[in-house]
Amino acid sequence: MENNSIKQNYDLFERIELLAGQCTGSDAELDDFLSELANHLGPAARHLLLRLAEERRTARLKRAGLNEAIVGAEDGLREVMAAVRQVARSDAPVLILGETGTGKEVVARAVHSHSRRAGGAFLRVNCGAIPPELIDSELFGHERGSFTGAVGTRKGWFERADGGTLFLDEIGELPAAAQVRLLRVLQDGSFQRVGGERVLNVDVRLVAATNRDLRRSVTEGAFREDLWFRVAVFPIPLPPLRERPQDVPALAAHFALRAAERLGLPPRMPDAADLALLAAYPWPGNVREFASVMERAAILGDGRRLEVARALGVVPPAVAMLPAAADTQPVLHGGEAVPVSFVEASRRHIEEALRRCHGRVEGPFGAARLLEMNPHTLRSKMRRLGIEAKPYRPAG
Ligand SMILES: Nc1ncnc2c1ncn2[C@@H]1O[C@H](COP(=O)(O)OP(=O)(O)OP(=O)(O)O)[C@@H](O)[C@H]1O
Ligand SMILES: [Mg+2]
Repeated sequence: MENNSIKQNYDLFERIELLAGQCTGSDAELDDFLSELANHLGPAARHLLLRLAEERRTARLKRAGLNEAIVGAEDGLREVMAAVRQVARSDAPVLILGETGTGKEVVARAVHSHSRRAGGAFLRVNCGAIPPELIDSELFGHERGSFTGAVGTRKGWFERADGGTLFLDEIGELPAAAQVRLLRVLQDGSFQRVGGERVLNVDVRLVAATNRDLRRSVTEGAFREDLWFRVAVFPIPLPPLRERPQDVPALAAHFALRAAERLGLPPRMPDAADLALLAAYPWPGNVREFASVMERAAILGDGRRLEVARALGVVPPAVAMLPAAADTQPVLHGGEAVPVSFVEASRRHIEEALRRCHGRVEGPFGAARLLEMNPHTLRSKMRRLGIEAKPYRPAG
C-alpha cells in the first residue's frame, strides 16, 4: 500500500522532471510553477518537486558562473573566510552556525568552491523537508523494482554528491529516523540502495548548517549525540549583522546596485544619512533583511533616489505612493514618526510591490518575485489582508 504511493510519487515526479527538461519557457517561470504546484500536493510529492526546483536553481547559478560575491570577506567576515580557506583544504565535515539570513548557504558554497572539489557537484538538501516514507530512497537511492513495479533506478543524495559536497541545510530539523541512517553512512563510509545488493562507496564532503542551538537539542534528546560528534568536527560561527556594522556601507552599495539591476532602474547610492540609519538598525533578519530593505528603498525611490528612511519605516511615506493611504499615515508625536504596525507595514509593502508590478502576482515580473516570496504564500497573505491585485492592473 505504502510502496504503491511512493511509486506513484516517483512516477509523477519523473514525468514532470522530463517535461521540465524539455520546457521552452523561462527557467524562473518554470521554477515558480513547480513551487506553486508543490503547494497543492501531498508531502512526498511536494518534497520531490521542491527538490527539483532547488536543483534547477543550483544548476542555473552554476551555468551563470555566479560564484556569489561575499561582501565583508575582508572586514566583518574576515575570520570566517580564513576558517573557510583553512578547512577547505581538508575533507573534514564543516558545521556552519548562525542566525537566519546571516549567509550560511553563501559560506557553504564558499567551502565547496575553495576546495579541491570545486569542479564537482554541490548538492543542497533541506533536512527538515523529507517525508518519513522517502528517507531511505532520498538518502541512498533505490533500485529498479525495489518496490512494486518501481520504474527506474534513482540515485540518492550521497551518490549524486559523489566527488563533490553534500550540504545538509537545517540539519537540526533532521527527523530521528533519518539521523540514524545518516549516522550509519558516516560511520561505515558505505551504503546500499534500497532494494540493492551492491555496497557503494562514495567520496563526499559534508557541510551542514543550522540556526538552532544544536548542543541544546543534544541535551534535550532531539538530536543524536553520536551524530553531533560526526558533523561538528569544524564549526564555523557566523556573526549576526548587528555585530559587524563595518560591513554596512559595502552591503548597502552591493544591494543598491543589485536592486537597480533587478528592477531595471538607474542605480542610486546611499548617502551618509542613509548609512547612519542602516548602521543603527538591529537587523533581526540579517543580510537577507538588509537586501529586501535596499530593494524596498529602490522601489520607493523609483530610480530617482534611494528611500532608505522610508524603507526602514522611520519617516511617513508620501500619501501619493500609497493607494487609499489616507487613514494609514503613521502618527506623529513631537515631529517623530511612530513606526506602523507590522501588519500595516506588510500591507503597504505588498501594495507597493503590486503597484510596481502592475498587479501581476506571479511570473518573472510579478510581485512575488520582487518580494522574494512564494506566489502561493503571497496570495494567501493578500487574501488575509483583503488586498486585491485587480486595482493595480492597467485598465482595458
Ligand atoms: N556576505 C554576504 N554578501 C553578499 N550577500 C550575502 C552575504 N550574506 C548573505 N547574503 C545574501 O543574503 C541572503 C541570505 O543568505 P543565506 O541564504 O546564505 O542565509 P542563511 O544563513 O542560509 O539563512 P536561513 O537560516 O534563513 O536559511 C542570500 O540572498 C545571500 O545571497
Ligand atoms: Mg539557509
